[in-house]
Amino acid sequence: MTEMVGVIVLIGMMGSGKTAVGSRLASRLGCRFVDTDESVVAAAGKSVRQLFEEDGEEVFRRLESEALHDALSRDDDVVVAAAGGSVLSADNRAAIRDRATCVIWLDADLVTLGERTGRGGHRPLLDGDVGGRIAVLDRSRRPLYEEVARFRIDTTGRSIDDVVDEVARRLAEDDQS
Ligand code: S3P
Repeated sequence: MTEMVGVIVLIGMMGSGKTAVGSRLASRLGCRFVDTDESVVAAAGKSVRQLFEEDGEEVFRRLESEALHDALSRDDDVVVAAAGGSVLSADNRAAIRDRATCVIWLDADLVTLGERTGRGGHRPLLDGDVGGRIAVLDRSRRPLYEEVARFRIDTTGRSIDDVVDEVARRLAEDDQS
């Protein structure tokens, strides 16, 4: 691939497809892929759920910010899947805007987000009432995703490859403009 990659950041709600799309996009572009949740788990030596339960959300958010800043600070080409809550911090939003070559907001309707996230796993914020909690988080975060993103791509009802195709096309168009 000869086109410029730089630092591509995927943002969006839990279940929007950041990890699935990001890892496939990185293979297609032949570059590194970083998922900030995975970096946090590696740094802490415990799962996201354990971090929330044993150390609290504040500690998780601090590790998340460190993982994000680390991912953004390297010089090589990279696709970064920034976990859903990364945009809550103004400092994180500024770092994303400063460092990213392109920021893509993966979006989906609430039913789709609920179906993709399911129960348990690494999303303790959704425990109890997945649909209700997603709706509240989505409403409060949309302005933050919008503030940071260059493009919004609706992934509702679409395959991973279809979304990756659109991301690659938008990146190529953006590169030429
Ligand atoms: C969170 C999103 C999750 C994970 C944690 C909190 C959020 O990551 O970091 O459960 O606040 O939106 P994904 O966006 O990868 O699901």
